Amino acid sequence: MEVIVCSAYQEMSVQAAHEVSKVLNTKPNAVLGLATGSTPLGLYKELVRLHKEEGLDFSQVTTFNLDEYVGLPDTHPQSYHYFMKQNFFQHINIPPQNVHIPSGTTRNHLAFCAWYERRITECGGIDLQLLGIGSDGHIAFNEPGSSLGSRTRIKTLAKETIQDNARFFEKKQDVPIYAITMGVGTILEARKLLLLASGKSKAAAVAAAIEGPVTSMITASALQLHPNSMIFMDKEAASQLKMRDYYQWIQDNKPGAPQPEP
Ligand code: F6R
Repeated sequence: MEVIVCSAYQEMSVQAAHEVSKVLNTKPNAVLGLATGSTPLGLYKELVRLHKEEGLDFSQVTTFNLDEYVGLPDTHPQSYHYFMKQNFFQHINIPPQNVHIPSGTTRNHLAFCAWYERRITECGGIDLQLLGIGSDGHIAFNEPGSSLGSRTRIKTLAKETIQDNARFFEKKQDVPIYAITMGVGTILEARKLLLLASGKSKAAAVAAAIEGPVTSMITASALQLHPNSMIFMDKEAASQLKMRDYYQWIQDNKPGAPQPEP
């Protein structure tokens, strides 16, 4: 796990977008796993800028989103379909048929989730998966207690998540209580994981995920099991990390980084 503490949200977003663009530059037909929420907004903005100003090409890219609320149609302003279109897809050159987002309106959840998993495999697996983290330590909507081997499925949201996400809805009662979400097992199969965390409200979850035990009670801790994961955060999100000086020391002394002359 590589832990990168950035001075502020903007720097975090730009650095993380750079990691995505590195993957696309070496593999133009990469498969990206995408996240929604407040945290990746700056990253999407930077990717859009790279597309418009520096020609970053999405014409061969395939995407799979982590999750969607059950019951919200694609056109609902709080649906993740709508979010992705507004904040990313409508600004880049990705072919619409290459975009996959769990359906909020499927009547057959079991069949849909099995199809979603199959599609990921048919497309060659996910090269880079973006993740946020919930204040309860979730990744995607894998709430505390989700099996670390879980696959795409319907999941009941935790009360804490409903409370956190109520800010996007008119009232708390409007927040759906179910979502379709990739499982922790699905996420761990991606070749690279990139988790972003911003703000004080994430500090405890970030510390538990990085420095606590691997546990289904903090599903983000499963990143400890992954051979190629990066966690970008701002200072506020890093504020409860005990080993912060060491993570910085590692960043300052990366093998291959320029060394002072002897
Ligand atoms: C969204 C998702 C969630 C969010 C998490 C943090 O697709 O999978 O796990 O990443 O709830 O949300 P924000 O960024 O809004 O704090």
